Amino acid sequence: MVKQINAYWKASRYLLMQQPIDEKIIIRLAKPEDRDIIVDIQFNAIKTLSAKDYNYRQLNALLRSKSFYRKAKEITFVAEINQKVVGFASLLYPFNTIGAIFVDPNFARRKIGTKLLQRLEQEAITNRIPILWVSASLTAYPFYKANGYRTIIKSNFPLYSTYIPFIQMKKRLLLVTREERLREAYQFFAVVVVTTLIVLLFW
Ligand SMILES: CC(C)(COP(=O)(O)OP(=O)(O)OC[C@H]1O[C@@H](n2cnc3c(N)ncnc32)[C@H](O)[C@@H]1OP(=O)(O)O)[C@@H](O)C(=O)NCCC(=O)NCCS
Repeated sequence: MVKQINAYWKASRYLLMQQPIDEKIIIRLAKPEDRDIIVDIQFNAIKTLSAKDYNYRQLNALLRSKSFYRKAKEITFVAEINQKVVGFASLLYPFNTIGAIFVDPNFARRKIGTKLLQRLEQEAITNRIPILWVSASLTAYPFYKANGYRTIIKSNFPLYSTYIPFIQMKKRLLLVTREERLREAYQFFAVVVVTTLIVLLFW
């Protein structure tokens, strides 16, 4: 019996040594050659992680919209573990809105999303952006909440003949000057008007 336990212990120690020891998450700017893996990650993340939050039609619409290369004017960072891209995040120009955060479902809940989000926030601060906005999916809502984002309004946007519920959220990154506060009030007003128009036009 003792022999068996020793053998098991040795085997499991060997197995442990086989596990990747260096699981350091590296965040870097995306390169053109990351485009395919970025599309794969966003597609797989929706298919796997968002399946519990959306119905069949909504999920199909989301998957269809995420099957293409990203075209928006944005700055994108990727997360790498052992030189494998396992997530990405983007900030939309003028860098006051989060365009995307997607994590490979095999690496979910390992703080990769948080590290990407922190990198976006750092970039926004460097660009003197006082408030960061995001249209959070139902899936990502608890993630943003855990990272200090506040709910502004819940709404829907139309996509391929269906409606996708989302939650408009924001986080204050910097204390602001009077001019910046005015710009912020203008942005808030614009978000409310655009969201109301979308709801009135398509609901
Ligand atoms: C949202 C997403 C990016 C989160 O990435 P992640 O690396 O798994 O998140 P983290 O490990 O950094 O999570 C940080 C905290 O957020 C919260 N959180 C994250 N995912 C959660 C979930 N599914 N349910 C509840 N809380 C969650 C938790 O508090 C978590 O801390 P904990 O694990 O110690 O409890 C990832 O789930 C994803 O790609 N989702 C699908 C795509 C999507 O909806 N993207 C957002 C578009 S706006």
